[in-house]
Amino acid sequence: MTELMRAAAFAEPGGPDVLKVMELPAPQAGPGQVRVRVRAAGVQPFDAAVRAGWLPPYLGEMGYPRIPGNEFAGVVDQVGEDVTGVAVGAEVLGFTALSSYAEYVVVPAANVTAKPAKVPWEVAGGLTAGVQTAELAIDGVGLAEGETLLVHGAAGSVGTAAVQIARRRGATVIGTAREANHDYLRALGAVPVVYGEGLADRVRALAPGGVDAALDGAGGHALEVSMELVRDRARIVTLVEHGRAAELGVRLVQGDRSAERLGRYAALYAKGAFAFPVRRTYRLEEAAQAHREIETGHGQGKIVITI
Ligand SMILES: NC(=O)c1ccc[n+]([C@@H]2O[C@H](COP(=O)([O-])OP(=O)(O)OC[C@H]3O[C@@H](n4cnc5c(N)ncnc54)[C@H](OP(=O)(O)O)[C@@H]3O)[C@@H](O)[C@H]2O)c1
Repeated sequence: MTELMRAAAFAEPGGPDVLKVMELPAPQAGPGQVRVRVRAAGVQPFDAAVRAGWLPPYLGEMGYPRIPGNEFAGVVDQVGEDVTGVAVGAEVLGFTALSSYAEYVVVPAANVTAKPAKVPWEVAGGLTAGVQTAELAIDGVGLAEGETLLVHGAAGSVGTAAVQIARRRGATVIGTAREANHDYLRALGAVPVVYGEGLADRVRALAPGGVDAALDGAGGHALEVSMELVRDRARIVTLVEHGRAAELGVRLVQGDRSAERLGRYAALYAKGAFAFPVRRTYRLEEAAQAHREIETGHGQGKIVITI
């Protein structure tokens, strides 16, 4: 008999309400894979785009129903052949390409790392995208001690990680956000600034020595301002303007996600040396609400679904 699981999935693309809890076949771990009983799954803007019908080309053709979710934390409950170093019962966090808004997810064993006991489930479940994206982006633009990095969208999940990673490398960070998020940014170690008209002048006033590099987590005006302030376009990375990056000579995030990197930040969190605030958690049944919230495009920290 087919084993079933509960998942928040959609049978056709559309608005948040197409996300429903469905009973679907539970995946089984094959060679080199582990199956995880998911306890928490992070929510990304990416997931809302997938729900609306977009698929990144690397995923190829895919039928319905589709289960969104690239991030998860949970307990290993199956280990496939040829897997070493991960055992049934291990508490892990990891990454996938879709499928994590579900009771079970199957991934290559190399996509998980041990969850330190001091990292709560909801933090572990939403940690991947922010830290992987932020570190790859900062590695791409390069950042030396004493330099200044401008982070647009600094209060979001990638921004939260980027501010702290850059501070750990000895950089000064200017972070853009609505005024309501400025205390949050100060606590992370950034100098906050309001985005919108006049941003370039406000940043110049805060960085008389200039801005060395920029991470664009907002697109549009944020990217224009970055190009106005940063001399070398190769030191600008955009998370948003995928279609225009090559023509403008700015970077996209490049490189693979890694369990090693994820484990490093989980360990820092456990030591109290890295913050990753969860804005709000939703139950699986509330996945549509979680998507409505992520689609506002505003707010601080991470949205997580608990399962
Ligand atoms: N590999 C990749 O390229 C990659 C990976 C991950 C994410 N992304 C993309 O990166 C972006 C950020 O992702 P995320 O997960 O951090 O999203 P998020 O958690 O939803 O955060 C978005 C942040 O943007 C801020 N914001 C909204 N409008 C802004 C503006 N005009 N200027 C500056 N900040 C603004 C919001 O803060 P306020 O409340 O202050 O407005 C919010 O904190 C998304 O577009 C996502 O799709 C790309």
